[in-house]
This record gives sequence, structure tokens and C-alpha cells, in this order.
Amino acid sequence: MQIGILTGGGDAPGLNAAIRGVARSAIADGADVLGVRNGWAGLVGEGDAVPLHLADVSGILARGGTMLGTSRVNPLADPKLMDAVIGNLGRLGIDALVAIGGDDTLSVGAALAERGVPVVGVPKTVDNDLLVTEYCIGFDTAVAIVTEAVDRLHTTAASHHRVMVVEAMGREAGWVTLMGGLAGGADMIIIPEFVVELDEVVEHLNARRQQGKTFSIIAVSEGAEVGGLPTPSGGGAPLDAFGHEQLSRRGIGERLGRQVEDVTGFETRVTVLGHTQRGGTPTAYDRIWATRVGVGAYKLISERRFGEIPIKRGDDVVNVRLSEVVAEPRLVPEDLYRMAELLY
Ligand code: F6P
Repeated sequence: MQIGILTGGGDAPGLNAAIRGVARSAIADGADVLGVRNGWAGLVGEGDAVPLHLADVSGILARGGTMLGTSRVNPLADPKLMDAVIGNLGRLGIDALVAIGGDDTLSVGAALAERGVPVVGVPKTVDNDLLVTEYCIGFDTAVAIVTEAVDRLHTTAASHHRVMVVEAMGREAGWVTLMGGLAGGADMIIIPEFVVELDEVVEHLNARRQQGKTFSIIAVSEGAEVGGLPTPSGGGAPLDAFGHEQLSRRGIGERLGRQVEDVTGFETRVTVLGHTQRGGTPTAYDRIWATRVGVGAYKLISERRFGEIPIKRGDDVVNVRLSEVVAEPRLVPEDLYRMAELLY
């Protein structure tokens, strides 16, 4: 038996821990392992994969990024690409594939499973927006990075009596911004699920000044809307291969910061955390759970339970259908968002 492993979409801290978990449990069971390079890109065209032995997955547990490389190549864009993926799996001698990724990568996995291809998934996304699972690789580390940034911004904001706008990741779901903002004690959190008006932001900042608070920190998701802000110049942001806008190009943090300063007169600075949220060493939590779902993915293969994905539920790893986790994005519920508002 030879298994293939690929990582697709945006990288995330903990991917290497998952690769190691899959590979070590497969090798211990007598299977051979191939690492597919650069996500689905490695299974279209000529096919690009390398054997993974125990030595290759040694020393990678604590390393960020993905040793296999990744891409946003989308085989669902063209039926010929899906055929190429299936052809390459056969040509490379891959008997079962582990697709590690978020909704885009796993949607391809689910479509392949529907066509009878032996594929299982592993949940990964710093956005934390996969349905059903309580864990996605990279989210915990991203939240820790946002938290540290908000902590650091506090001391400089207080020293200069400034408004600090910090822009964090989050496409349709504001999990990273909300949790990082909560943990860091942000004074206002703006996420894609709930539209806020510029007037409300200004009112809140003025109220804080009247209470004697000389600085404020606003955490905003890159995909959030603020009603009443001037629209970005130069039209819409470019799209990636899955048809998603490159949200960092919308510049919500910068546009919000500029407008806040103009309207309130409070000196304002903007920090865009960008890809620092996806870089560097994974937290212990990410290492442990990435390992557990990685080992769980090989277990699914050994039990020939294709089309499934190991997820976290409570303290356990349980298995669900791939199609369940990608059905729609998991959004921040209103009660949690309103609770955060109580603390501003
Ligand atoms: O999908 C995860 C994510 O980190 C989003 O939060 C972000 O908008 C996007 O990827 C950035 O993508 P890229 O790395 O292609 O710029």
C-alpha cells in the first residue's frame, strides 16, 4: 500500500506536525508514503511527488509552513484537471490520498471521493471556518499571534494616546479577529458576520475618551465591512484560483484608520498583521491536535473509510463525511459576538 499526502491552500502552523503524524503511523503499519508537492499543483501536469521516509519527517514537528509546499491550484476549475489528478494518482501508484486543507482543498477531496477516488481529509485553516470540527490546524497559533500583537499595541497606544487599528485575517468568518481581540482585550472588534457603521465606531471612541481612556484598540477582520467608509479606489481586489478576493488588497484597516482620524481628530495608526498570522512555530495545542488528526487520517485509510475526515469533538477524534465540513462556512454566532461587545 502506498499513500500520498498533500497540503493545499494557505499554509498554517501545524501542517508539518500533521504530515509527520500521517507518515509515521503509515510507515509503522508497513505502508509507503509519497509527499505530493505544492497541493493540487503536484497532481496536475506531470505530477510531482517525492518518497517520504522516517528520516524525512524527523525534526519537523515544531517547524511552521509545510515541508511539501502548497498552492491555490484548483482542479475543480476544469474537468480536464480533475481527470489529470485521477490519472496522476494512478501513475504515481498512490492507493489512497490524504488531503490536508481548508474548504477549498477539501472540496476537491470531497468531489474526488464522489468519483470513487480513495481520499481522506485533515482539517486545516487559520480562519477556523470549517463546519462540524472543533479544531482546524493553525487557528490556535494565529490567535496567539493576534493576541500578542494586541498586547504589544496596548503599551505603545497608551504611551502615545492613540487609536490603534489592527487588521487580522478572516474572510467570511471573524474567528481569528474575535478570539485574538478577546484575549488581548481589544476595545472594539469588527468582523465580517456583523456590519458596523462608522458612526458607531466614532461614538464608541468618543465615549472612551470622555471616560478618561486616552487610547483605544480596534481589531478588524480583513473581510469585514464598515458602513459609511469610502469604497476602495481602483475597483475590486483580484481573485485567486478558487474565486476568492485577495482581501488584504481591500485595505479595510487603512481605510478605517484614516477615516477615524479624520472624523475624531484622534491620532491613529494602523497595523496589518497579514501573513505573520500564518508564519512561524506552531503552539503546543496546534502540534498536539495536528498530530492527532494526522494519525486519525491514516487510521481512516487503514480501515478503508474513504471520503471521511477526522475532526475534534470534545477530547476525542471522531470521523465525519468530507462533504459535511465543507457544506458552508462556520460563522461566529451572534451570542458570542454580543458577549465580546459587553467588554469594550
Ligand atoms: O484562507 C486562509 C487565509 O489566510 C485567509 O484568511 C486570507 O484571506 C487568505 O488566506 C490569504 O491568502 P494568500 O496567502 O493567498 O494571500
